[in-house]
Amino acid sequence: EEVDWSLEAAEKGGFPHYMLKEIYEQPWVLENTLGGRLSEERGEAELGLELDPLSVDRVHLIACGTAAYAGWYGKYLLEGLAKLPADWEVASEYRYRDPVVDGRTLAVAISQSGETIDTLEALREARRKGARALGVVNAKGSSITREVEEVLYIHAGPEIGVASTKAYTAMLAAMALLALWFARARGVLPLEEARTLIREMKKLPRLVEEALEKRPIVAHIAEKYHQAQDFLFLGRHVQAPTAYEGALKLKEISYIHAEAYPAGEMKHGPIALIDEHLPVVVLATKGPLYEKTLSNIQEVRARGGKVIAIATEGDEEIRKLAQDVVYVPEVHPLLSPIVSVVPLQLLAYEVAVLLGRDVDQPRNLAKSVTVE
Ligand code: G6P
Repeated sequence: EEVDWSLEAAEKGGFPHYMLKEIYEQPWVLENTLGGRLSEERGEAELGLELDPLSVDRVHLIACGTAAYAGWYGKYLLEGLAKLPADWEVASEYRYRDPVVDGRTLAVAISQSGETIDTLEALREARRKGARALGVVNAKGSSITREVEEVLYIHAGPEIGVASTKAYTAMLAAMALLALWFARARGVLPLEEARTLIREMKKLPRLVEEALEKRPIVAHIAEKYHQAQDFLFLGRHVQAPTAYEGALKLKEISYIHAEAYPAGEMKHGPIALIDEHLPVVVLATKGPLYEKTLSNIQEVRARGGKVIAIATEGDEEIRKLAQDVVYVPEVHPLLSPIVSVVPLQLLAYEVAVLLGRDVDQPRNLAKSVTVE
């Protein structure tokens, strides 16, 4: 027993839980995912793929759970940067809905384990219909990697905590690489813009490091709200998937009910939930939809809701509107989810610890779901 314990303690590298260790590994994970794959001079992502990017007319991103939110983010980037039609869907729907696919469709299966059965079956369905196939995977040699033409490994290292953290940020970085690769090949992203984006991507490990330093503020917020019955998470555009991932993390490990909505959709239903008991986490970083998000915050405040804003460092205006603010460093708006998700991971972690939950092995969940 004692030997096991010390082995486990050693594996956790001094952290009380694997999840926390993995959250703190994110700066070097991002180095791994991005390292050697970006040429600032040429403004290119060098992915070593044999696939001809010009043979692809549309992309279907398929995945489950956290990986599915990475796919949703990928859709915004592929469309926004590469002007490539991209659809995103959870694999358990995709596999049964008769998707329209042809030889110019690229199915992208995103998976940490590479073993999730729904993702694997959705991929097979796309292939049966003639799609090309790319895996965005963490586990080397896993089932998905054997059923795709090519793999873009995320290189996050082993992830033990059931709730995915470092694999998520690595998947987001992989989506940015893929979008950049398509964008340049398709001639729709000018060299200077590509270089700017690459410079910002290279800053990510350091910026995530800075976001991790916000843990004491996040712990304070967790202290304040861990007794809440429900949480609402709001975000727009690329921060919509971040909101969903934040809500998922909280549900998975604290068992608190959490809902996420694209902030602009709040008025069509979830606004009815808002009262003085509801903490609302709003992704309000600087970007084209910043002003719109501020009005969403005002709508929440007008109904008594408690606002916890994730905002860009230096934004003083937001202090007047939100009860609590966690500042994250400024980065290119399209990359902001990679930095902003960090305080949400920490929030879920701190709340779960305060509630005495089993952080690394939450009830009813498995690290990889290999049966339907
Ligand atoms: C399980 C895990 C989730 C994970 C999902 C997809 O449900 O509990 O954390 O996001 O599977 O896993 P994958 O290995 O395919 O990324």
